[in-house]
Amino acid sequence: MNQKEIEDLLNKMTIEEKIGQMVQIAGDIFLSEDTNSMLTGPLKDLHLSNEKLYQIGSVLNIVGAERVKKVQDEYLSKSRLKIPLLFMGDIINGYKIAFPIPIAQGCSWNTKTIKEMTEISAMESSIAGANVNFSPMVDLSRDARWGRVMESIGGEDPYLGEVYAKTMVKAYQGKNLSETGKLASCVKHIAAYGAVEAGRDYNTVDMSEREFRQYYLPAYKAAIEAGAEMLMTSFNIINGVPSTVNRWLIQKIIREELGFKGIIISDYGAIEETIAHGYSANEKEAAKNAIYAGVDIDLMSSIYANHLKTLCLEDKEIENKVNESVLRILTLKNKLGLFENPYGNLDEEKEKIYLMNPINLEKAKQLTQETFVLLKNRNHSLPLQKNKKIALIGPYIDNIGITGSWSMFSDKSKNSTILDVFKEKIGNQVLYAKGCEILRQGEFNKILSADGLPLIQVKNEEQKEEELITSAVETAKNADVILLALGEHYRQTGEACSRSTISLPENQIQLINKLSELSKPMILILFNGRPIELNTIEEKLDAILEVWFPGTTGAKAIVEMLLGEQNPSGKLTMSFPQNVGQCPVYYNHYNTGRPHNNNLRYVSRYQDIPTESFYPFGYGLSYCNFKYTELYLNKRKINENETIIVTVKIENQSEYAGHEVVQLYIQDLYGSVVRPVKELKAFKKEYFKPHEVKYVEFYIDIEMLKFWNEKLEFVAESGEFKVFVGGDSVNVLEDKFELIMSL
Ligand code: GLC
Repeated sequence: MNQKEIEDLLNKMTIEEKIGQMVQIAGDIFLSEDTNSMLTGPLKDLHLSNEKLYQIGSVLNIVGAERVKKVQDEYLSKSRLKIPLLFMGDIINGYKIAFPIPIAQGCSWNTKTIKEMTEISAMESSIAGANVNFSPMVDLSRDARWGRVMESIGGEDPYLGEVYAKTMVKAYQGKNLSETGKLASCVKHIAAYGAVEAGRDYNTVDMSEREFRQYYLPAYKAAIEAGAEMLMTSFNIINGVPSTVNRWLIQKIIREELGFKGIIISDYGAIEETIAHGYSANEKEAAKNAIYAGVDIDLMSSIYANHLKTLCLEDKEIENKVNESVLRILTLKNKLGLFENPYGNLDEEKEKIYLMNPINLEKAKQLTQETFVLLKNRNHSLPLQKNKKIALIGPYIDNIGITGSWSMFSDKSKNSTILDVFKEKIGNQVLYAKGCEILRQGEFNKILSADGLPLIQVKNEEQKEEELITSAVETAKNADVILLALGEHYRQTGEACSRSTISLPENQIQLINKLSELSKPMILILFNGRPIELNTIEEKLDAILEVWFPGTTGAKAIVEMLLGEQNPSGKLTMSFPQNVGQCPVYYNHYNTGRPHNNNLRYVSRYQDIPTESFYPFGYGLSYCNFKYTELYLNKRKINENETIIVTVKIENQSEYAGHEVVQLYIQDLYGSVVRPVKELKAFKKEYFKPHEVKYVEFYIDIEMLKFWNEKLEFVAESGEFKVFVGGDSVNVLEDKFELIMSL
């Protein structure tokens, strides 16, 4: 349809039909099947009349060609104007092929890798009938206590957030949404959701506008500039007003300043929750606040359905806003080609041959390997030496549950386990013992399902724990090296999974301590969705490979890496704290007037732990040994129109070939507001042959030196700067230059 035809359609709609387009509910209601497993929020019956039900505009988390067709057919059979439903979902890290969780993907520092994962995910889910994906989540995340750091593609850095946001939006949407394999991207959560106080989900967010613009806004801005079709509001308040009804955020920043013309959807029930926040006095006011702020779709609440009509009758301005919202919704449906074909890119035949096809699975494994971060490798314990007896111990050795908490559509039955793969490759060299459960029953009880009930219990735990440890110790005695696969339960990370401790579970630490008494080399494969506190166990471990929740091909990807068939290249996008007391800890902090120094008293420090992070932002080892030997600037004074060419010499002093992520940071030594001690401004992932020496170049220009000043202007100021280049944010070569603005 053309724009005029869309407007004509809008004019044919009754006010009830218009308001219906602004409502989204869980789509299983049309299937009368129990899909509570797909629930992503509190269980609720919205009590929508049948008439209203067949006027809604979109459904949540119905994917799969047959199911989508069934729901669309059922809906259209009772829709007066035959306006097709939009199918939106949380395909956060893949549809049938589960890719690594987003924080892991970000550790690849490779936009090509992220693009390819996103494109496969978009192809799988679009031929399965999805039209919109609630991804990427680009919330800057600094606090490891927050369960949703696992979803943050850019981690603690605004620049990474911008680069990855743009990459993913373009990969989902391509050039033409109605093209097979493309989806509309709904970027979330606007805004500053990652700054929830104390890392507690849904909690208060309060910050200066300058802080917001400097750190939290850039990734959303990049997503909008990349053409994101939708944005989702966040659950938190910003400076006293819930994001979902925050006119400063939505109207002033998102619509007027950033020029966003797409659809704004609330998060799950967030319009209704403005009552609990103590902002809306009642449901009718919640509807008024949200429509005035500019929310186009009410996700999983009946506030719009039950109150917008009355408001329209009372206030013409509200009816105009309803018309604007519905026009945006119809425009997206039209871009997706749904008026010509209500099934969109859905293709049952293609679905049968494309989903989880071997080529994509092999590709997924290679891409997954780029997300692993080698945190420690004492005495070159990795890769595993040939012909050694290996004791495989831990609850993640023989476990297919390694796909993360947002992988509800993936087919876990297709996941191999680390044990399977080792048996296949070097079966005669491996011994196995479970060693312990992931969690003790008490911890398990704290993980609740959507209806607030504990998950399945761990049976007869007491004596079993003793037996498991004893058998693991006996098994390890017969081996040369111990390979431990431990970590969080996947349901300890993600939404509503904030934790006040971020260490490994006690029973797992007990296993490590027992096994360390054997004084054999011990290697840890770590499964987790957040930075973990390792300071109490790190000394006992010879190597630590961070694999996050690696998804469908994770087991194969891990074993190949352990055997040296692949070389780790991942780098952290979130700092690992010394312990939970240090949260939030991040690299791009301010210096303070008494910069931390562990040997002085009157400085900004903790008495009981070192002040620097345990593992820094940008950190990750390789089987190679990269030496940064020379740093050269072609000039040391520039004005606003000039650039500096930075050249760094790097040598791979090893027999291995591998990739290194070369990172460039800048520090503005003083400014009209204090400036961070370092800011990532560029990075390059470079391949090195054995013993290869490379010169890697970067350009510094005025754009890299701009920041938000006190008057909320985005400016660069004359002054001195430091430039740092290295393989992480701490071990760097440095030099200086000066900016002399000519104006
Ligand atoms: C959830 C999440 C959001 C998700 C939405 C729909 O509460 O906050 O990220 O996309 O609901 O499932």
